Amino acid sequence: MVKVCFVCLGNICRSPTAEGIMNVFVQEANLQHKIKVDSAGTSAFHEGEPADPRSQKAANQRGYELTSRARAFRKSDISQFDYIVAMDTTNRNEILKMCSSDHQKEKLHLLRDFDPKSSPESSVPDPYYGGANGFSEVLNICERGCQGLLQTIRADKSYG
Ligand code: 4NP
Repeated sequence: MVKVCFVCLGNICRSPTAEGIMNVFVQEANLQHKIKVDSAGTSAFHEGEPADPRSQKAANQRGYELTSRARAFRKSDISQFDYIVAMDTTNRNEILKMCSSDHQKEKLHLLRDFDPKSSPESSVPDPYYGGANGFSEVLNICERGCQGLLQTIRADKSYG
């Protein structure tokens, strides 16, 4: 079993979107028994809340369902998950501070690093304070990143 955790700040916009998309890609590849997907936030601001209604609406328009409830990322998640996929460099750096070994640091990635068309250190822009376009742009970026992530997991020699 490969375990993936997407991480953003609030766990109500970007990481639930990536989680919903990845779950569909995993199901389409018939790998739901091999890949487990979750998400969390580096803050607990929205603990227990469903995904932002604007994220849900944008996702539903493309056939994705966002069913997660927000929770804060914990230090113990680093040992629980194999791929910890941060939405931006701030989230990544917060988690980096919680890592206690090189092995743990190696689990940490940026979502856009799985998109060959993105330049290194690219972030998924935070849509929270912006308009509707920001939410569909998050979907576009997450679709590309999740596609690359799934390819990477399938090519991972420790997988299977
Ligand atoms: P997310 O977006 O990190 O993609 O879930 C945000 C959600 C809430 C806030 C900021 C970003 N906030 O400041 O409450």
